[in-house]
Amino acid sequence: MGTQGWPKGPNWEGRMMNDDPPMIAMRDTSVHHHRRKPWNRAFNSSSIKEFEPLLRRRVKLLVEKLGEQKGPVDLTMWINYFTYDFMGDMAFGGWSEMLIEGDRQGLWHLMESGISISLALEHIPWIMPYFRLLIKANLREDLMLDHSLRKMNQRIKDGATTRDLFYYLNGEDGVDSQPLPKNLLLSDGLLAIVAGSDTTASVLSNAFYFLIRNHEALINLMEEIDRFYPAGEDPTDSRHYSQMNYLDAVINETLRLCPPVPSGSQRAAVPGSGGKAVGPYYLPEGTLARIHSMLSNEILEISSLILKHSGLSDGSSLPLVGYVRMDLSQHYRIYTVFLWTV
Ligand code: HEM
Repeated sequence: MGTQGWPKGPNWEGRMMNDDPPMIAMRDTSVHHHRRKPWNRAFNSSSIKEFEPLLRRRVKLLVEKLGEQKGPVDLTMWINYFTYDFMGDMAFGGWSEMLIEGDRQGLWHLMESGISISLALEHIPWIMPYFRLLIKANLREDLMLDHSLRKMNQRIKDGATTRDLFYYLNGEDGVDSQPLPKNLLLSDGLLAIVAGSDTTASVLSNAFYFLIRNHEALINLMEEIDRFYPAGEDPTDSRHYSQMNYLDAVINETLRLCPPVPSGSQRAAVPGSGGKAVGPYYLPEGTLARIHSMLSNEILEISSLILKHSGLSDGSSLPLVGYVRMDLSQHYRIYTVFLWTV
């Protein structure tokens, strides 16, 4: 991974519903690097500050909405609405109003079901041309595309009201003389919404789940928040966040126990390159590799022990867990797990 590391694998070919690949799918490292440039400008430390007022507004709305609820509350649903609305603000300067209207158009539901299908299809990318023919008959897929096109055209017509991600992708910051064509702008805008909302929503929901089950951790966190933000202070003002070590630990522990992308990022040598070395190992072209975050976290200690006792490692090297997964149905999966060290 990283600039000199292994490039992306072919899994994204099995996750693309059209011919317009988003930046995340780029296997050629120089093309990936080029597509990544406006993203880097959008997320550097000074530009990211521009997103704070948008986030503040959504946090306040979420708290207000939760305060209005009577009886049992589906916290996950509200968190989903919150992250989706915010990512739309951040990417396109406005996308949805789920915190106010709910999932009226079924957009969150569509994204969630799309992710489940694509997780199976990424293992069999060759099936995509046939699958897409089936999808063309699916009106609900058109719904997402229609919504995206409408929002993007509106955004182009209105111009930038904030320095959203689109401001950088569309070259409105004046750095790129040749911004992306419209079809790729749409793919990358959608990428931000999908990559940013589902992941952060799952971390937030899981963090609340663990805190509710662990009273001591909940009290410790509440004490830390009260110390930095006593009554009357605005907790959406980010100035103390970097000193809030307990909050940081809660987020990191949630990420460790339930990584939102449990199977990690698939990597493979560029076609025609002949393969690549990873540490002392040579992985020939056609080999797919991924570090499975969840399995690595869960069985790190066990795998270290196995490697040590089998003589494959002296215990000083890092065990990596790779796997091939095939979904047979919603409930039945076949896993082939590989264990090696670097
Ligand atoms: C806890 C939250 C998040 C987690 C755990 C997470 C995890 C990941 C992982 C594992 C990848 C690699 C995927 C692959 O290459 O196959 C990735 C890529 C990416 N994520 Fe996130 N992500 C999170 C939040 C976000 C947010 C808020 C955004 C906002 C736009 C975002 C945008 C992206 C993009 C654009 C890529 C592609 C990067 C590239 O190819 O260079 N992610 N993320």
